[in-house]
Amino acid sequence: MKAVQASQFGAPSVLTVTDLPDPTPGPGQVAIDVTHAAVGLIDVYLRQGLFKDAPGLPQPPYVPGLEVAGTVRALGEGVTGFTVGEKVVSLSTHGTGGYASVYVSDQARVVSTQDYDIDPALAVAAVPNALMAHIALTRAISMSAGESVLIHGALGGLAAAFPGIARQLGASRVVGTVRSERMAAAAASKLPYDTIIDSAQLPDMLGDEKFDAIVDPVGGLVRTHSLDLLAPSGRLLLVGNASGDWDHGIDGNRIWQGNITVAGFNAGSYVPAHPEAVQPAAEAALKAVASGLADTEIEVLPLTDAANAHERLENHTTEGRIVLTP
Ligand SMILES: NC(=O)c1ccc[n+]([C@@H]2O[C@H](COP(=O)([O-])OP(=O)(O)OC[C@H]3O[C@@H](n4cnc5c(N)ncnc54)[C@H](OP(=O)(O)O)[C@@H]3O)[C@@H](O)[C@H]2O)c1
Repeated sequence: MKAVQASQFGAPSVLTVTDLPDPTPGPGQVAIDVTHAAVGLIDVYLRQGLFKDAPGLPQPPYVPGLEVAGTVRALGEGVTGFTVGEKVVSLSTHGTGGYASVYVSDQARVVSTQDYDIDPALAVAAVPNALMAHIALTRAISMSAGESVLIHGALGGLAAAFPGIARQLGASRVVGTVRSERMAAAAASKLPYDTIIDSAQLPDMLGDEKFDAIVDPVGGLVRTHSLDLLAPSGRLLLVGNASGDWDHGIDGNRIWQGNITVAGFNAGSYVPAHPEAVQPAAEAALKAVASGLADTEIEVLPLTDAANAHERLENHTTEGRIVLTP
């Protein structure tokens, strides 16, 4: 099969296209003929070696990529519920293998898109993240209908899945933050936000407006400002650190004094521990994506452009998601 391999930790140039033996599915696994593989900031962190000492995370040489769309190629022993040729996506809970023409996943991390009219580029860009957004909003912070939600980095790969799911769950108002007018225009035209604001203007730009829930994949300064933007008993949901400010902390006194709940959600460890969460979230995500609630900006590039895609994610010159085609 054709694949992109990270030969070592380091700059985007460590990613090279190569030929590898076709993987075959073991017991309980599904092999997928990949049509589209999503690129995310987590792929960049792994390639940089940021998590190289974390147990279970990939060591070079490895094939990056967590999320693919494609069709079922072969079923491992004991797999039921899928047929060869069926349209599927894989979920973002597994560290490697996506930037390739064939991908093997445990059955539990494969979701059928067969019954939905969803373009495969959109399917891989939005379904796994929408599924995670549903789990995070319903389980990590128990969002209710009628609540208001603020989402930082509004057009980011993960963030873009949240406004649609928040809407689906009955949010009364959904506001996004971005850093540039370019991102503001793209987010406002594509995604179901009520309004988009410049994160540099926080916390004053919103006047007295407060939010029941804030989704934060960015961290750093916007995380600190979020404490000023929560309504009484508000919840701050931490899902990432796109700012790269790894040393940033939260003032514990402000949390107890403000009756604030701070929750974290990490798909990679949550989903394996709570497999029962996947089915209802998958149904919700597929409905949301099929009905246009997650129509994010997508750029489709060939697999040979993987290094370029990483460089652009690092430089923050992407607009929405990059998806690779083998
Ligand atoms: N919890 C989970 O299960 C899970 C799943 C997937 C991803 N993640 C994490 O979520 C984070 C985002 O990943 P992604 O793939 O969505 O990345 P992405 O597509 O690059 O999106 C990141 C977003 O954050 C914004 N941003 C970056 N630095 C910022 C700053 N200093 N101030 C304000 N906004 C800033 C970017 O805006 P600009 O483009 O304007 O810079 C962009 O919209 C990463 O930390 C990733 O590890 C977590």
